Amino acid sequence: MRTRFCNGYRSTMPEISIPRPPLTDGVVTLRLWRAADVPQRLAGYTDPQFERFSLPSAGELTEARVRAQLEHDERERLLGTKVGLAIVDAADDDRVWGGCSLYDIDLEHRRAGVGYWLAAHARGRGAATRTVGLLAQWAFAGLGLARLELTCSPENIASQRVAERAGFVREGILRSHIRFGDERRDSVLFSLLPEDSRGTE
Ligand SMILES: CC(C)(COP(=O)(O)OP(=O)(O)OC[C@H]1O[C@@H](n2cnc3c(N)ncnc32)[C@H](O)[C@@H]1OP(=O)(O)O)[C@@H](O)C(=O)NCCC(=O)NCCS
Repeated sequence: MRTRFCNGYRSTMPEISIPRPPLTDGVVTLRLWRAADVPQRLAGYTDPQFERFSLPSAGELTEARVRAQLEHDERERLLGTKVGLAIVDAADDDRVWGGCSLYDIDLEHRRAGVGYWLAAHARGRGAATRTVGLLAQWAFAGLGLARLELTCSPENIASQRVAERAGFVREGILRSHIRFGDERRDSVLFSLLPEDSRGTE
């Protein structure tokens, strides 16, 4: 069992504890996924912008496969390697706006990756920037991380704007960084350190 940071204290608990009450800024709330969210998550995953920029899953997505993904996410949370959260309307937490995660969590080197997506109906209102701000505050103050990394396609201008608005610093291009279907793609790498973080806007 590895030593972990939890709410600023060293802990021997293997899993990443989810903040209670959930992270919120009064506009977006980040909470654990629920079984009832499956149709909304599936709809988000079959959106053209999501399919263009988010890593494709093998085979056709169905509600059963999305349910299996939720179970997989929970196993990763218990292992301490990833936390996946639903982005929901703070005024109605049944209304899913999108999803986000801290992934590749490495507590030895105190860093993690940040990922996010929004349903089409939730875009254009700064919800992703708010989400990244909330995740960053929790990652630094709650989990004791010292570096967050954000990667996206060089063609994903909206995602790069989210990174910049959340205070991330552009570090450069990672050549041939990911396998995307049958091709390989470059990524833009951004990072955020606690001293860069501006929090939510
Ligand atoms: C990336 C994403 C989360 C951004 O959502 P959002 O918070 O609604 O972002 P916005 O629509 O407010 O756009 C953010 C910025 O990008 C700009 N933008 C959005 N779409 C753009 C486009 N196609 N071309 C150029 N600029 C664009 C906006 O004008 C805004 O700029 P501003 O900060 O100067 O006002 C959303 O587009 C999405 O879910 N995309 C599909 C999945 C995805 O790409 N996930 C990220 C993988 S790394």
